[in-house]
Amino acid sequence: MGYFSKKTMVDCKICNRKTGQIISFGKMPIANSFKSKIVEEKVLLSNLSLAFCPFCLMVQLEETVASEILYSRDYPFISSTSNVMANHFEKMAQEIIRKIYGKKKPFVVELGCNDGILLKHIAVKKINHLGIEPAGNVARLAEKNNVKVLCEFFNKKTAMQIVKKHGKADVIAGANVISHIENLNSVFEGLKILLKKNGYFIFEDPYLYDILEKSSFDQIYDEHIYYFSGLSIMNLALKYGFQLVNMKHQNVHGGSMRYYLQKSEIRNPKSEIKRWVDKEKKMRLDKIDGYLGFKNRVDKTCFVLKQTLFKIKKSNKRIVGYGATSKSTTLLNYLKIGPEIIDYIVDITPTKIDKYTPGTNISIKSRDFFIADNPAYVLLLAWNHKKEIFQKEKKYRQKGGKFILYFPKILIE
Ligand code: TMP
Ligand code: ZN
Repeated sequence: MGYFSKKTMVDCKICNRKTGQIISFGKMPIANSFKSKIVEEKVLLSNLSLAFCPFCLMVQLEETVASEILYSRDYPFISSTSNVMANHFEKMAQEIIRKIYGKKKPFVVELGCNDGILLKHIAVKKINHLGIEPAGNVARLAEKNNVKVLCEFFNKKTAMQIVKKHGKADVIAGANVISHIENLNSVFEGLKILLKKNGYFIFEDPYLYDILEKSSFDQIYDEHIYYFSGLSIMNLALKYGFQLVNMKHQNVHGGSMRYYLQKSEIRNPKSEIKRWVDKEKKMRLDKIDGYLGFKNRVDKTCFVLKQTLFKIKKSNKRIVGYGATSKSTTLLNYLKIGPEIIDYIVDITPTKIDKYTPGTNISIKSRDFFIADNPAYVLLLAWNHKKEIFQKEKKYRQKGGKFILYFPKILIE
């Protein structure tokens, strides 16, 4: 424990023991709080910093923003803006359908169903389902996709309500949602009630291993409270009477892991788990020293990126951003990059267009605007969608337009 200074020791949200700080980014605005007008005085709400618990091995935010503030208002992130993600979730739905094959009146629940990108494939097969989505605006979009939705946060109380009305679930799914929930205790209490004895809880989130390997620090922001690994999920599952039975890596969101949990009386863990956990141990994700070089690597990337951007500006070329992502709030605020460097950010999400980025006041423009404008350089803020965006912007690149990439290293393509 000698590595941790007393000042930065906070209690682990999972096991209540002392964690140690890995990195701190200072004050940050809410990552997804795009503004309708330029806000002069920055509303910098929380300290963004990450900690590691050497006891239960969970990596987590030290300070969090209340979920009611993050999700109850209109939530600007719409899952179906990416075709790759739409295909990804269609395949995930097919996997769920295989898991319930042959079951009598199966019931599938999704926590945080967003616009129904996953559940619409279950709904179309007339399979009993329910999406739990606290953000009203996206819940309504899911309903338009013929998905049944309960507009609530998931916890023990909601689980009891669901069981009473619909019975227990064969599969409970969650994509990019479990890592967003601070009180995992209430989630697992709910899961215990809602999941059938031999049912599956299948969830995926950005994978800690990938974040550390690429030093992709912009994946750290207020909504991502936990940064899971096989090691921490094994411990978490055990604590609540579940068992990790499989892990499957996913090539989305810069590298995600899909975890499969079952109640502990069911014992059929796959050998895949050992393979991944061994990899994690090799990176020393179970020890404090596995996290020590992260801050230096991040600061080095930031330094080189800022130099690259300054150099381009000095040559009188214009730079715009691509993708007003939540990730970009961490990147732009940490690097202190505003409209003096990035003219605007292009994004196809209707709820983001003509708004301004939190803390940095860069305006967000439509793709039509970008195509007509044809700037010399584009900073790819939605770097996790590189393949899809490069495909879409083939013409822009053919005409000489350049993309600036920064993970795992800085490249101009
Ligand atoms: P994400 O990285 O959290 O998925 O956010 C991606 C953002 O990028 C989201 O605001 C939608 C936007 N986007 C585009 O504007 N065009 C695209 O082609 C894709 C794939 C995403
Ligand atoms: Zn802990």
